[in-house]
Amino acid sequence: MKKRIGILTGGGDCPGLNAVIRAAVIHLTEHHDCEVLGIEDAHSGLIDLEYRKPRGNRWLTSGDVRGTLARGGTILGTSNKCDPFRYVVSEGGVERETDVSATVIANAEKLGLEGVISIGGDGSMKIAQRLLEAGLKAVGVPKTIDNDLGCTDQTFGFDTAVGIATEALDRLRDTAESHDRVMLVEVMGRDAGWIALHAGVAGGADAILLPEIPYRLEPLVEMLAERTRGGQCHALVVVSEGARPAGGEVSVGEIKLGRMPRLMGAAHRVEELLCQLTSAEIRTTVLGHLQRGGAPSSFDRILGTRFGHAAAELAAGGAWGQMVALRSGEIVACSIKEAIAEPKRVHPDSSLVATARALGVSFG
Ligand code: F6P
Repeated sequence: MKKRIGILTGGGDCPGLNAVIRAAVIHLTEHHDCEVLGIEDAHSGLIDLEYRKPRGNRWLTSGDVRGTLARGGTILGTSNKCDPFRYVVSEGGVERETDVSATVIANAEKLGLEGVISIGGDGSMKIAQRLLEAGLKAVGVPKTIDNDLGCTDQTFGFDTAVGIATEALDRLRDTAESHDRVMLVEVMGRDAGWIALHAGVAGGADAILLPEIPYRLEPLVEMLAERTRGGQCHALVVVSEGARPAGGEVSVGEIKLGRMPRLMGAAHRVEELLCQLTSAEIRTTVLGHLQRGGAPSSFDRILGTRFGHAAAELAAGGAWGQMVALRSGEIVACSIKEAIAEPKRVHPDSSLVATARALGVSFG
């Protein structure tokens, strides 16, 4: 009997997911004679084998992944609300969290899966590790535009998101210059400032506010005044969604059972605060999910393809519990446990922050 391996995508969608799926499916089916089950919507297809939104689990062939390399999103669907250890059920209109991990493991056995390739970020790798300890074998693939997963120099999706944010800055600069305005641009990244820092430097921002460096308003006001004195009455400010004022809290929106709190309002808060201190005309743009959709950059297509191929090798060889990673240009493996031990954050003294500071960028 052929070896059966499942593949799923968890958490938010991200450019490059289909590149990973494509490479893993082609390599496993054509070179390792395995059967690959595409699992629908993260673990949903294992929590309920009858799950159909819209298609349900399906056995994948190389024909199924043909033409998907340049497509955004994920052909398997994904979800960030189906953690099997905190699965939300509704009884009599009241929601509560419950642990359905035993069902996931039993269903994977029923399907004859030896293990699962789990493509996801920090949250998905934590779930994969807990399931691994409970009995479901897994190989991890590090995905997230946030780039905040440990052990790997870069996650796929990050490069595309930085490109989109940089392009947005280039566009907003035109309006900033034409109208003598301060343009605030909020980017994603949760508690990590990687997208803000990289897009800010690439887009020539005048200030970059990161979760890792709580900001003060005085340096920002001074930077605007200094620019005005020098005849530059406009500015571009990148605000990470996880940025917060020194001594203040992160701006949070809705909080739902079984999910991470939604970050929102960081840039609007900066606008509100700055408006009290300057007469500058300020406009805020929240890039939101524009950073996650659309075709992956060539870098992410290549990284996704390399990750997918390497994950297939690990799964076919029975190297469960490992996550593929990029280190100094090479694809390596580390344990999932090690990858989730500590999130990867921007160090306030890192060389890119120092370079930006040297060029006059304010970090608030
Ligand atoms: O983790 C990826 C990410 O895009 C974060 O940058 C952001 O905070 C979050 O997901 C948004 O999630 P949702 O799609 O549930 O709004």
